[in-house]
Amino acid sequence: MKRKAKPASTAKSAANDAGHSLWGGRFEGGLAPEMRALNLSLDVDQRLWPEDVRGSRAWAKALIGAGVITKAEGKKLDVGLVRVAARLETGAPFRNAADEDVHSLVERLLFEEAGEVAGKLHTGRSRNDQVATDFRLWGMGAADGIEAALGDLCRALLALATRGVDVILPGYTHLQQGQPIRGAQWALAHLWAFDRDRERIAAAAHAAGVLPLGSGAIAGCPFPVDRDALARELGFHRPSENSVDAVGDRDWALDLAYACAMTGVHLSRLGEDLMLFTSLEFGFLRLADGYSTGSSLMPQKRNPDVAELTRGKSARLTGNLMALLTLVKGLPTGYNRDLQEDKHTLFDSVDTLLMTVPAMAGGIASAEFQPKRIQQVLDTQLLATDLADELVRKGVPFRRSHEAVGKLVRRSELEGVPLADLPVKAFLEAAPEFGKDVKKVFDWERSVESRNAPGGTSKSAVKAQVAEARRRLKG
Ligand code: ARG
Repeated sequence: MKRKAKPASTAKSAANDAGHSLWGGRFEGGLAPEMRALNLSLDVDQRLWPEDVRGSRAWAKALIGAGVITKAEGKKLDVGLVRVAARLETGAPFRNAADEDVHSLVERLLFEEAGEVAGKLHTGRSRNDQVATDFRLWGMGAADGIEAALGDLCRALLALATRGVDVILPGYTHLQQGQPIRGAQWALAHLWAFDRDRERIAAAAHAAGVLPLGSGAIAGCPFPVDRDALARELGFHRPSENSVDAVGDRDWALDLAYACAMTGVHLSRLGEDLMLFTSLEFGFLRLADGYSTGSSLMPQKRNPDVAELTRGKSARLTGNLMALLTLVKGLPTGYNRDLQEDKHTLFDSVDTLLMTVPAMAGGIASAEFQPKRIQQVLDTQLLATDLADELVRKGVPFRRSHEAVGKLVRRSELEGVPLADLPVKAFLEAAPEFGKDVKKVFDWERSVESRNAPGGTSKSAVKAQVAEARRRLKG
C-alpha cells in the first residue's frame, strides 16, 4: 500500500537540525559531536548538484525500465528533481544545510518536492556508485572547460608566433646564447607543450567516460537496469565492467590531476620565460599594463605578475597530484570513505587552471616583441655553429671545423673584438678552407633560413608548424 506523502513542512523542519540522513536505522545515538565536522562534505561536494540531479533523473528512468517503479512514479520523481534543481540553482538550500553531503541534500529536497515517492529513488543504488558517477560526470565537463581554455592560450601563442616570424632572438641552452631562432620558433615551442596537454586532458576525459552507476555499493544491482542505456543517456561511452572495481576506481581522476599538473609545469616554464624576457636585462618582450602590477614602495616597478602568480599557482597542481596518489595508494579493494577526499584536490586543480590559463592567454595576447632591444643583445658568437657548418660544406670534417671555430672565438675574446669583427685573415689562419667571403656567414637571416629541415626555425619550417597547429586547434 502506498504511504501518504509527508507534508513538506515536516520534512523541512527535520532538515534544519541534523539534516537529512540516508542511513541511521541500525544506529541508536546520533553522531558524536566531534565526529560531525569530519563526516560532512557538503561544503566541498555541493558543486556536484547538477551532476547528482542528472544522474538521479537517469536512474529514475532506469528503475522504470527495470520494472521497479511505475511510469507514474518515475514521472513524479522527474518533476520533483527538476524542481529540486530549480531550488538548488538559487543557492538558497545550501545556506545552513546540515546534510552530510550533496546526495543527502538532494534527497531531502526531493522528499519536499515529490513526497514519499522520493524514498523509491535510491533503490538498487548506493552513494558509492552515485558519487563515482557524479564525480566522473563533473570531470568530463571540467576537462572540456580546460581544453577550451588551453585552446585559447594556444591561439594567443599562435598569434604571438605570427608577430614573431621576422624577429630574430637568441636561442638559449643552459640559459646561454646558443643559436639564433625566430621569435615564432620560441612562441611555438610553448604552444606544442600545451597542445600535448590538450591531448592529455582529452585522454583523461575519455577515461572518465565509463559509467559506475548500476554497481550498487559493491556487488552490482539486483534489478534488471539497462546500464548501456544509462551510459548513453548520461554521455558515458560504456558502463564499467566490474562493480567492485567501479566503486573504488579513481584512475581517471589521477589522469586528470596529472594532466593538470603537467599543464601547470608548462605554464610555469612559460611564466619563467616571460619573467626573464620582460626584465630590464633581457627586455625582449613587453606585456600590457593590465597583466602587471606595481610596488607599494618602489614607484618605478612594473612586475609581470601574471607570469609570477601562475608559476606560483602551479605548485598546488603538483601537490594535488601527490595528494591523490597518496590517497589511493593503500586502499583495500572497493569503496572506502577516504575517497571523499578525492574531490577537493581535483576541484582545486581544475579551478586553478581555469583561473591561470585565461590570464596567461590574455598576457600572451598582449605581449609584444621588442626588436630594437633584441638587436642589441644578439652576439655574433651565436653564429659560431654557422661558421663551423660553412667549413663542413667545404669538406672539412665537423670535429676539425668545431676546433678551428673554437680557436677563433677564443681569439675574439682575448682581443676583445666581436667574432664578426675579426679580420678575414684571422679566419683564413684558423682554417684555410674559409673563403675570402667568410663574413657572409654573419647574417642572421641566412642562419635561421639555413635551418630548413622540418621542425627548424626557417620561415617555411615555422609556417608549416603554424599551419599544423591551426589544423589541430580546429580539429
Ligand atoms: N560523501 C561521500 C563521498 O564523497 C559519498 C559516499 C559515501 N558513501 C558511504 N558509504 N558513506 O565519497
